[in-house]
Amino acid sequence: MRAWRTEKRFAHLVIFKLLAETKLSASDRAFALDLFYGVLRNSTLLDFWIGRLRTAPVDIDLRDILRLGLYQLFILGTSEHAAVYETVELAQKKHRALINGILRAGLRRKDELRAQGNTQPLDVRTSHPKFLVARWEQNFGAEAAEALCTWNNQAPPLYARINRLKIDCEKFLRTYPESRPLLHNPDFVELDAFPSEALERGHCYIQDPSTAIACQLLDPQPGEKVLDACAAPGGKTSYIAELMRNRGMIVACDRASERVRILEKNMAQLGVRIAHVFHHDWGRGRIPKEIASIAPFDRILIDAPCSNTGVMRRRVDVRWQLKPANFLRMQKQQLEIVRTVFGLLRPSGVLVYSTCSLEPEENEELVRRVLADLSMLRLERTKHSIPFRDYFDGAFAARLMKSGS
Ligand SMILES: C[S@@+](CC[C@H](N)C(=O)[O-])C[C@H]1O[C@@H](n2cnc3c(N)ncnc32)[C@H](O)[C@@H]1O
Repeated sequence: MRAWRTEKRFAHLVIFKLLAETKLSASDRAFALDLFYGVLRNSTLLDFWIGRLRTAPVDIDLRDILRLGLYQLFILGTSEHAAVYETVELAQKKHRALINGILRAGLRRKDELRAQGNTQPLDVRTSHPKFLVARWEQNFGAEAAEALCTWNNQAPPLYARINRLKIDCEKFLRTYPESRPLLHNPDFVELDAFPSEALERGHCYIQDPSTAIACQLLDPQPGEKVLDACAAPGGKTSYIAELMRNRGMIVACDRASERVRILEKNMAQLGVRIAHVFHHDWGRGRIPKEIASIAPFDRILIDAPCSNTGVMRRRVDVRWQLKPANFLRMQKQQLEIVRTVFGLLRPSGVLVYSTCSLEPEENEELVRRVLADLSMLRLERTKHSIPFRDYFDGAFAARLMKSGS
């Protein structure tokens, strides 16, 4: 918790780096992950309870320890004795009596404090920033905002896309009988445990079914030339290659060098033979010569950087990093990428713009601005995945066509 607070890096990078340095058993790793993400998901509510148990200010490191203890006692349901003992052990000797006293008082008042928690406003009850709750209430209505906050606090299921470049769906299900196919998405399976062997063999890729929307709207055909402008780490690039049956050409770009390396590794692992990977930043209208010489493209996917509000049950720390100004700032970046990349599309070509955001500034409003700006583009259709309606991550995709000749 302290590393996350002070290093200001993504939560998953912090915890996986620390876990890599330990020799925990699989079940202890899972427990450590649950504690870490559980505290991040519930920190406002935990602080509300801490405030009821101690009126004097609480030092930030002690607060982390109390959050861990109360999360186990009030939410996770860890055995009381173990939770109190282990939490007290985390503190320096001089603070142990204080932590012990607060946790034991918490245990005595558990029912009363839980009931008080349940009557708090949505931002406290579900631990979301006030401004985000207010924005969602305004954009989606109170009921939907409540459903979304509740959704964001659930542990997400594990989904994988079967990589049909290497194995067909039937054989995959026979080889990995623990995987369960999704009824309306036969390319995807749900799993209970990380499919290490299947991943190693390139038989699947961990991916939420909502990510398929953009590729399906793009509808790439074998033999075509496709630009995947924001491609890393390659979930959609590999799906596009699969839809093209590994025939044609995909130019896959990204500005983040570390992610480009992962993209290259993923393409090799998944047996994608048609992707040409470039490390490139589309900012300030830059188009590299190598890509200009390959253009024009039949289809372009811009899976834009965004606020990630559609994937907050997976990206647990996003809610604590977002600021009200982020949405318009993202829109500016997104518009810049569309304006730069659009010139590489052939007449009558298809451009799909997609995000995993639920915010109108990054989705419908952005598309309106693009259409006003680039009169050669016409909107064909849009598609949304809305977590509390569709029961998958949030996603948005718009299919635009460039006028002919
Ligand atoms: C939503 S992620 C892409 C996910 C990817 N399409 C997939 O399915 O695995 C957005 C990506 O855009 C990249 N990006 C952001 N700004 C960019 C820019 N100006 N030029 C190129 N890539 C950019 C980020 O590094 C990030 O990898």
